[in-house]
Amino acid sequence: QAQDNVFKIGLILPMTGQQASTGRQIEAAAKLYMAQNGDTVAGKKIQLIVKDDTATPDVTKRLAQELIVNDKVNVIAGFGVTPAALAAAPLATQSKTPQVVMAAATSSITEASPYIVRTSFTLPQVSVAMGDWAPKNGIKSVVTLVSDYGPGNDAEKYFSERFALNGGKVIEKLRVPLRNPDFAPFLQKVRDAKPDALFVFVPSGAGSAVMKQFLERGMDKAGIKLIGTGDVTDDDQLNDMGDGALGVVTTHHYSAAHPSAANKKFVEAFMKANKGMRPNFMAVGGYDGMRVIYEALKQTKGQGGGDALLAAMKGQVFESPRGEVLIDAQTRDIVQDVYLRKVEKKDGQLYNVEFDVLKAVKDPGKAK
Ligand code: DHB
Repeated sequence: QAQDNVFKIGLILPMTGQQASTGRQIEAAAKLYMAQNGDTVAGKKIQLIVKDDTATPDVTKRLAQELIVNDKVNVIAGFGVTPAALAAAPLATQSKTPQVVMAAATSSITEASPYIVRTSFTLPQVSVAMGDWAPKNGIKSVVTLVSDYGPGNDAEKYFSERFALNGGKVIEKLRVPLRNPDFAPFLQKVRDAKPDALFVFVPSGAGSAVMKQFLERGMDKAGIKLIGTGDVTDDDQLNDMGDGALGVVTTHHYSAAHPSAANKKFVEAFMKANKGMRPNFMAVGGYDGMRVIYEALKQTKGQGGGDALLAAMKGQVFESPRGEVLIDAQTRDIVQDVYLRKVEKKDGQLYNVEFDVLKAVKDPGKAK
């Protein structure tokens, strides 16, 4: 039967709505991976089925159900936001279908199902690095501003705790709604509080709105620095943010300017295949997620069910465009280098230029 020779990957992504850039980046990366590595693996023809969940968890759940039951996919993947990843988790468990989380980054996601493997990052992983860097670099007081849901709460907690441990003072913790946030009233509060810096987490796609309002309100001129996780200086948007973004320091696991041969090759191929679109950290999560799936299929010689595939995903070590990574066999979460980066101009374009690195960082959220 023809079906037996097909290996189906159900890719659930926000292709429309507020999170659409995440879907666009990940779909492009998954297709690039397939173009570079072929669509036949261990004798199976790879079929990618892309579904738009608009980042709405009820829709994610329905699509995951349909993909698993009707299309009989071998793997579900994608998941642009935390609530979407969590909505699909019980279905992955019930059906023993590996769920490759390529984007969502709340620490606890991997604990929602033993069938989840993550190729993105976690907010604790990147936020702690800023809690160490800031107080050593003249930032003694901070206001935090985060999107009010899983990853924002993680970023706020792990940054604040580490910053305070290092003698820093968190003056105020502000949370903005995930949907259509108006940053203006929050930024006014920050101005009044006069911290040395504003620490920000907003999801991919919201960074340029924060940057615009930060500059329009003259926060930089009032002596307030902008710091955060690299989601705010997202490579998908950074180049259009203007010179006001110069000097912004963030911590993250991927920059399009990462100076490795593997990354140069990745960025070039991605831009060539996508009309000059620069890949961001979402693209890398998608590209590496495809790699993890392809390798698992190879290792199981095309014969594996969900449990065998999952076992073959655990413990994979490889060179990603971001650097060396490991899928921790115990936690099924990604272990990776975390970089300190500063926005600089290179050849007339804005980039997050890496200037320091913490090697092989595990998710601090899994320590307990
Ligand atoms: C999540 C979404 C993002 O766009 C991001 O940059 C980080 C985390 C999330 O919902 O988990």
